[in-house]
Amino acid sequence: MEWLPETRQLKLIDQRELPAELRWLVLSTYEEVATAIREMAVRGAPAIGAAAAFGMALAAARAEAHGAVAVRANISAAHDTLGAARPTAINLAWALKRVRQATATATDDAAAIAQMALQEAQRIADEDVALNERMAEFGAALIQPGETVLHHCNTGALATVDWGTALGVIRKAHELGKRPQVLVDETRPRLQGAKLTAWELQQYGVSFDVISDNAAGFFLQTGQVQRVFVGADRVAANGDVANKIGTYMLALAARESNVPFYVVVPTSTIDLSVASGSEIPIEERPAGEVLDLLHEGRPVTPAGVTARNPAFDITPAHLVSAFVTEFGIVEPPYIETLAELLKGQ
Ligand code: MRU
Repeated sequence: MEWLPETRQLKLIDQRELPAELRWLVLSTYEEVATAIREMAVRGAPAIGAAAAFGMALAAARAEAHGAVAVRANISAAHDTLGAARPTAINLAWALKRVRQATATATDDAAAIAQMALQEAQRIADEDVALNERMAEFGAALIQPGETVLHHCNTGALATVDWGTALGVIRKAHELGKRPQVLVDETRPRLQGAKLTAWELQQYGVSFDVISDNAAGFFLQTGQVQRVFVGADRVAANGDVANKIGTYMLALAARESNVPFYVVVPTSTIDLSVASGSEIPIEERPAGEVLDLLHEGRPVTPAGVTARNPAFDITPAHLVSAFVTEFGIVEPPYIETLAELLKGQ
């Protein structure tokens, strides 16, 4: 995603169109950013955090001509609207809070407040790239040459500002010459793996196969996977992980097969204010995401059927072998090690 300084707009890839088409959206208002997040034109926890931060900058920019009071009012409205766009990824609230705090000054210079909002949003975006690359280095050190790793959803450059979390680790291992083989979960219902992760890996030149989500257990059980890497939308104080639906089943199968299961997260994804995963709100998305699927040109389900569509699940901390963060590898007991990691932040 990119800020356009001349027109003061936000430009980002419309992920709904990939891999068929690389289409860019140019957004002018915070309401447009909220819609892009809700409708998943932009998705992935760090990416929606950064986009929301730029949404705050748009709110300030659009109100600037009307004075400082109007700028503050628009920032406040943007904070509430963007914060309600998707409930599970804590990076969203985290980024909004940062911009709000950065603009909480006594000045009544509207242009100065708008500049502060933009600077903080840009800082969030720049930091994201740098810390993802650090996580990638820590994570890549866990991968031995030629290993097969399994990946869920899309956690790459598309899901962040650049590099990615779990997919960044894989990309780094590839750049270091470790030649990882990747099994890409297709990730029903929205197919972020088949569409987005496959699109990214193709460009990086990483060797991979797409597998149906149902096949992951088979590959783990038969010793064909050495490590699993996933990202997260929120990590509770005890180490429970909210991530894309299907992560929990994957973690269970990995544990049963004695395959290490790593969760790659920036510290902005760790939420010490929730004690355990049961307190994390799970987004339920429209049934159409499950039902509106064509196979050989025909609908897969009979007309009139209903569906349930939770977008995330909770993986209990005891199934997580380690977290990879921008400060290094974090091991159990997570209730202590995560608190220690975030001390002073
Ligand atoms: O619903 P999505 O596509 O936004 O879900 C994305 C995920 O679950 C990712 O694993 C998570 O955000 C981490 S991405 C760096």
